[in-house]
Amino acid sequence: MTTMESLIGLVNRIQRACTVLGDHGGEGMSLWEALPSVAVVGGQSSGKSSVLESVVGRDFLPRGSGIVTRRPLVLQLHKTEQGQAEYAEFLHAPRKRFSDFGMLNLDKYVFSLWIKFNVLSIASYNIELVIHFLRFVNMLSIVSEAMDNLFAYAASVRKEIQDETDRITGKSKHISNIPIHLSIYSPNGLYIHLPLDFRAEFGLNNIFVNLTLIDLPGMTKVATEGQPDSIVEDIENMVRSYVEKPNSIILAISPANQDIATSDAIKLAREVDPSGERTFGVLTKLDLMDKGTNALDVLEGRSYRLQHPWVGIVNRSQADINKNVDMIAARRREREYFQTSSDYGHLTHKMGSEYLAKLLSKHLESVIRQRIPSIIALINKTIDELEADLDRLGRPIGIDAGAQLYTILDMCRAFDRVFKEHLDGG
Ligand code: GDP
Ligand code: NA
Ligand code: MG
Repeated sequence: MTTMESLIGLVNRIQRACTVLGDHGGEGMSLWEALPSVAVVGGQSSGKSSVLESVVGRDFLPRGSGIVTRRPLVLQLHKTEQGQAEYAEFLHAPRKRFSDFGMLNLDKYVFSLWIKFNVLSIASYNIELVIHFLRFVNMLSIVSEAMDNLFAYAASVRKEIQDETDRITGKSKHISNIPIHLSIYSPNGLYIHLPLDFRAEFGLNNIFVNLTLIDLPGMTKVATEGQPDSIVEDIENMVRSYVEKPNSIILAISPANQDIATSDAIKLAREVDPSGERTFGVLTKLDLMDKGTNALDVLEGRSYRLQHPWVGIVNRSQADINKNVDMIAARRREREYFQTSSDYGHLTHKMGSEYLAKLLSKHLESVIRQRIPSIIALINKTIDELEADLDRLGRPIGIDAGAQLYTILDMCRAFDRVFKEHLDGG
């Protein structure tokens, strides 16, 4: 691990520890602000969870019509060694690992295939046809088993998100602002190419960023059956509390089959980020527009101008979700949609989930670069504050809270130490 990776890892751990202490980044300055996070905002069922999934390239967020996302989901991506199976872990159930053994099984099967092939070829007569047949059958079962595993993994993570949502809100349509923390440990993390001058300055190569993404409930206009009247306002306040922080990168999601002038996402984004420097406008459901209409006015910035270019997206439809259409197929179809579209053909290279992911990664790169001095300042400030708290409180009141405070303090000190060593060229 490079120093930079360990620093970012520490910030992530501090963020999680803050959540345990009840700091959801709601009030005042907190370590939440140390690193950028990406949050999705928009109206209910505009496609927020779908877009987030596409950006991350994982399939396990609950999606669907109605109010599906009822607690904030804080998703952190961590990079692990090559050759390891990906696994997911929730903060509320730290010892339970959700694993994707699909890929490892694939290796195992390829190996067994190889053995079979060798055994068969030792036989002195020509059974080439038989081999071909066996290979074919085997390949099918390998692929289908790997896919089954992938689906099982995604389904179990999705179920845990739903169960944990219900644990706080009941099986109601109520919402809660207590976030669910999910960490994904994967050898295929998102990574950022550091610019050359930065590499020279800090002596670093490309870094893998342990990125934080936040899925949020959708904004609504009216309370539905069983919801308190305050829900409209409650959701808006919750969403605002996540995106008003300057470290929050906003994915403002608007569906193309509704008038952009009615977009909740754009309204809120404009309020909290008037200059638009941290807002990315995403137009979903291009495939669902009325025949004979298109979204060129929005996508080309004529309807509503944003600092960053608009990105059009085609996510999976509800029918696709029901049929378990996987991410790879969905991305291929999205690409084909733009390539063959008479309206958007000329914009193909600037459209789609993969392009959005690239755009975000470039933006994150520049933000992280700018943030380094303030991260150091914040860590030092936190150390001072925590020390002062400990002086004032004397020995901790509750054992748990005290232990947590010490843990955070230790992490902050470690961060500070590592960073100083790093700057000293250590
Ligand atoms: P959220 O409530 O904003 O998180 O939206 P979801 O991601 O849960 O999506 C809501 C519904 O809209 C689901 O049934 C999705 O399949 C569907 N959906 C989202 N984006 C698109 C899209 O681009 N095209 C089509 N056809 N359906 C979409
Ligand atoms: Na929804
Ligand atoms: Mg959602």
